[in-house]
Formats: sequence, structure tokens, C-alpha cells
Amino acid sequence: MTSPLFRPLALRGVTLSNRIVMAPMCQYSAEPDGPDVGAPNDWHVQHYGSRALGRPGLIIVEATAVSAEGRISAYDLGIWNDRQVAAHRRLTRFFRDNGVAAGIQLAHAGRKASSPRPFDGPFGSVEPAADWQPVAPSAVAFAPDKQVPRALDRAGIEEVIKQFAAAARRAREAGYDVIEIHAAHGYLLHEFLSPVSNTRTDDYGGSFENRVRLVEQVTDAVRQEIGEQTPIFVRISATDWVEPAGWTADDSVRLAARLRRRGVDIVHVSTGGNVADARIPVGPGYQVPFSRRIRQEAGMLTAAVGLIRDPEQAEEILDAGDADLIALAREFLLDPVWPVTAARHLGEEWSLAPQYERAEVLARRDARAPV
Ligand SMILES: Cc1cc2nc3c(=O)[nH]c(=O)nc-3n(C[C@H](O)[C@H](O)[C@H](O)COP(=O)(O)O)c2cc1C
Repeated sequence: MTSPLFRPLALRGVTLSNRIVMAPMCQYSAEPDGPDVGAPNDWHVQHYGSRALGRPGLIIVEATAVSAEGRISAYDLGIWNDRQVAAHRRLTRFFRDNGVAAGIQLAHAGRKASSPRPFDGPFGSVEPAADWQPVAPSAVAFAPDKQVPRALDRAGIEEVIKQFAAAARRAREAGYDVIEIHAAHGYLLHEFLSPVSNTRTDDYGGSFENRVRLVEQVTDAVRQEIGEQTPIFVRISATDWVEPAGWTADDSVRLAARLRRRGVDIVHVSTGGNVADARIPVGPGYQVPFSRRIRQEAGMLTAAVGLIRDPEQAEEILDAGDADLIALAREFLLDPVWPVTAARHLGEEWSLAPQYERAEVLARRDARAPV
């Protein structure tokens, strides 16, 4: 019998060949300015290409900014101009040629924009321009040492919705099969959801209905652009880990039910990122219980993520009905062909690209085969 990890999943016009997802991971490796600003380059082609050879069902390309001011750092990928679209095609073509569905995470960093990239020290990095002031629902900084953002006015909110819609259209032009809207980790859309960062008194703040309005409007605008055949994922932080003051697991269940009715296909269930000093009980599969609740109580298909590393652990999550997809991030950095590793471990059918076929003899027979 096929392991649940290797069963296909059909979502609208796209069939994922298995349940393994490479989660979005910022590489902070694009040009920070100039004509190729934000465009995938040799690093991205290598990095994503080698993971595509392991044939996960879906690769979700890292947080990709819908506007220049919405980048986390100056080195983020972007999809706000046509030159970037052409460069993204290098990735999606390779994914398609290797049977991997191409996903992209569309993002606006909100009050966390204009940051230095994490692996540069204070020197030797391009510091964000002094006039790059982040925007947010309210003028509340993420942490005392972070910039105070400018609160978006009505026109600014309209602009953000248009930017997500335009980015989704470009993503389709670039060949992406799946659009993920980034509403997690303390970036702009999450900031609107959470009362910790949203203190507005207009239609976008206060009540639950008002705080979820922007995520819903962005979702609708994206759907409008991409038609009915392309799945939409929404990544959320299911809790701020400061309940009840922040965004809560109950809120996430309510939001997921509303997103299901709006035609969202998968809620990708992460946590945290909006409260600098939140205490997070990190451990194997620590976010899976949130995925389980959303799946069971909102009737929404989910992707689970967070310290899922072992093939058996991944199988158990699917078998228990706690998620429909298993996303891995850091494990893919350690083992680019994790799906192959998992299949070999579970005794499942697998195959490599024809160029690598001769390695299969070694892998399958564990023998000293003639070269
Ligand atoms: C280097 C790195 C970059 C990341 N960038 C993103 C990102 O662009 N978007 C996002 O939603 N999460 C991002 N994450 C979070 C991962 O997608 C994932 O949720 C998290 O690492 C937990 O999964 P893991 O235990 O399998 O690594 C990043 C994580 C890492 C390690």
C-alpha cells in the first residue's frame, strides 16, 4: 500500500504528486538594487533546482515581495515588475520539467520591512535606505529597537490589495501553479489580524470581522486575478503565543472557516512572529495541534509545518488526519532530496532524474555495482 506521504492530492486544476512540500525559506540573495533588483538569480536556480530533483509534490518559493517597500530586506525576491517575472520562469520551468508543482509565497513585510538581512553583521551589508519607512496597520513598532512604522491610510490599504492582485497575476505569468498568501510571522497581513499590532478604530481594526477584512479582501482580489483553476494557500500564524491578548487559536479556526467559504484551498499552519518576546514551546511537531484543530473544526484542508523531520512522523500526522500536506523547511536545507530519503526509508517507489539513474543501482541494492 502506498504510504500516505506519497499519495497525490488534487487541488482545483493542479495535482501534487505527493504530500511533501518544501516550505518557503527566504534566501536574502537577490540584488538589492539596480535593474535586476528582486529577480531570482544563479543562487535561486541552484538552490531550488537541487531541491526539485528530489521531487517533492510542491516547492513554495520564499516570501516574494509584492512591492519594493514590502521587502523584509533589500535582498528579498520580488514580483512587482516584468523583469522579475522573466527570471522567475527559470525556476518554474525547471520545476515543471521535474514533475514538481511550483508555488510562490506573496508577501508584504509590513512593520518588519527595511531590516538588514540576518546573516550580515552590522558591517558589510547594504543597510536599508534611511527613507524606507515601513508601513503597518498602526504606528506600533515590533520591538523597542525597531523602526516605528507609518500607519496605512485607506488609500494605502487599497494600494496593498492591488499590489497583491498584480503580483498574483504576474506569478501566473511566471508559471506558478499555486499562490500562497503570506499572512503569518508578524508581516503585514498578520499585523492586521492581531490586536497586538492592530489598534485601528476604522473598518480594519477593533472587532474580529474588521481585523480579518484585509486578509479576506486580498484573498478575493487574488482569486479574481488568477481564476478558478489555481489553488490559493494562506499561511497563518495560528497563535501569537500570548493568549488571550493576541491572535488566538480560536481566532484561527474562525478565520479558516471563513477562508474556506471564500475558496481558499489550504491553510498553511505556522505560529508566532508578531510578538518579539513571546515564549514558544518549540519541539517536534509543536504546531501540528493547531493544524489538527483547523482541519477538524473549520473543515479546511491544511499543511502542517514545524520540526517535522522523520518520515514516520510525517506519515503519522497524515494518518491521524491532522493535516493534508507536510511542509518541511530546514530539513530541506540539510537534505535537498528528502523525499527520496523518505521513500527509501518507507520502502516506497521512487526514481531519480534520468541523469542520476545510475545511482539507483547503489541505492536499491546496496551493492557494489559495476560502474
Ligand atoms: C532560512 C529560513 C527562511 C525562512 N523564510 C520563510 C519565508 O520566506 N516565509 C515563511 O512563511 N516562512 C519562512 N521560514 C519559516 C519556515 O517556512 C518554517 O515554517 C519553519 O522553519 C519551521 O519549519 P522547519 O522546522 O521544518 O524548519 C523560514 C525559515 C528558515 C529556516
